[in-house]
Amino acid sequence: MEEESLSYEEAINRASGSIYRFPLVEVHGVPLMTPIAQDWSSIWAFSPDASDLLIATYPKAGTTWTQEIVDLLLHDGDAEVCKRAPTAIRIPFLEIQSPAPIPSGLDLLKSMKPPRVIKTHLPIQLVPEGFWENKCKVIYVARNAKDNLVSYYHFDRMNQSQPEPGPWEEYIQKFMKGNLGWGSWYDHVKGYWKEREKRNILYLFFEDMKEDPRREVVRIMRYLDLSLADNVIDKIVQLTSFKVMKDNPMANYTFIPKAVFDHSISAFMRKGEVGDWSNHFTPAQSQMFDEDYAKQMANVDIPFRTSI
Ligand code: PPS
Repeated sequence: MEEESLSYEEAINRASGSIYRFPLVEVHGVPLMTPIAQDWSSIWAFSPDASDLLIATYPKAGTTWTQEIVDLLLHDGDAEVCKRAPTAIRIPFLEIQSPAPIPSGLDLLKSMKPPRVIKTHLPIQLVPEGFWENKCKVIYVARNAKDNLVSYYHFDRMNQSQPEPGPWEEYIQKFMKGNLGWGSWYDHVKGYWKEREKRNILYLFFEDMKEDPRREVVRIMRYLDLSLADNVIDKIVQLTSFKVMKDNPMANYTFIPKAVFDHSISAFMRKGEVGDWSNHFTPAQSQMFDEDYAKQMANVDIPFRTSI
């Protein structure tokens, strides 16, 4: 009973002694954080309602941004309603498992009535089958590999529950080999791309969202079969700008205690740009990465952009 009355933040504080950089364990060939792998059977057994909406991404591709857009669209742009709780509570993270008394994604989902919005980083083959059987709507957001890698590198520095990123040079190799949490970026973006038409997945790009956020907000709105007034759409675009979200404590992850997210190492809302990779990759690293990229992406033509 006592656990139920704990705030998410308090629960994390109580569990902080049990939080460490969890090693990755493979589930069907995909490396996942140990607690996720240990509870895999209950995650796989999750059965959504047909009205539930899934937001799927490779980590650091624009999940939080899309979650905020969707929540605002579903609440007619009401900023106060969308500050009712932190992102992680409003839109549970399907597979996340943490030491007690932190509620898991499944615990949070159990306490909510459909229609729910659900976040996942799972590659398409590991998404519980009920999402496809029930024809749930799925929004996938993809970000160009180099910026995605940079963002993940800084996140792994500050997130005390994921493996140490190690030196930058080695991190590039780990990314290219898919030796990071949730596996290969290449397989992830390709998996959803190939199925997007058949499974009615709305496939978005971070770069398009930066280039013309209004156009992409409208695209999401239409996919959700909503029709909001022009001034409400404008308001949502403004409320989901990087600047506003960075200062919104219900969207910027500052509520997660330092034992888990150490924002003094790197902020969760770090830069929010396209092209920051050029401040990290040396010309030689960029060339090596591009050569490997061409091989890994040879069988597919996904229109990624590394600059806008
Ligand atoms: S997570 O942990 O996987 O849920 O992270 P995710 O939200 O997918 O990715 C975090 C990166 O997205 C940037 N971000 C934004 N960019 C532009 N506009 C808005 N509104 C926005 N919100 C989040 C965030 O800054 C991270 O990118 P980097 O490049 O590290 O700054």
